[in-house]
Amino acid sequence: MKTSKPLFRKYLLVCENEREEGACCAKRGGLVLRELLKDEVKKRGLASKIRVSRTGCLDVCSEGANVLLMPDNVWFKGVEPKDVQEIMRFVCG
Ligand code: FES
Repeated sequence: MKTSKPLFRKYLLVCENEREEGACCAKRGGLVLRELLKDEVKKRGLASKIRVSRTGCLDVCSEGANVLLMPDNVWFKGVEPKDVQEIMRFVCG
């Protein structure tokens, strides 16, 4: 095993987990959110510093859609497309 520093300054982890039954972020717009966040990061010229990545279940499914900003350790719950700009304020803050 090797260790190294992360390639990116920050990571936005967007839950896209899908369940047939019950709450899940896929049903609450997780896939669309990831695309919107990726587009916004690119638009701001931050793609070499900020990585938007899909993740599996973060175990708070009923509060989705969920996005986690690391290493800031900020959790965004109940995220909707209209929240992308506010999330970017945290990312760039
Ligand atoms: S499905 Fe997103 S937190 Fe569980």
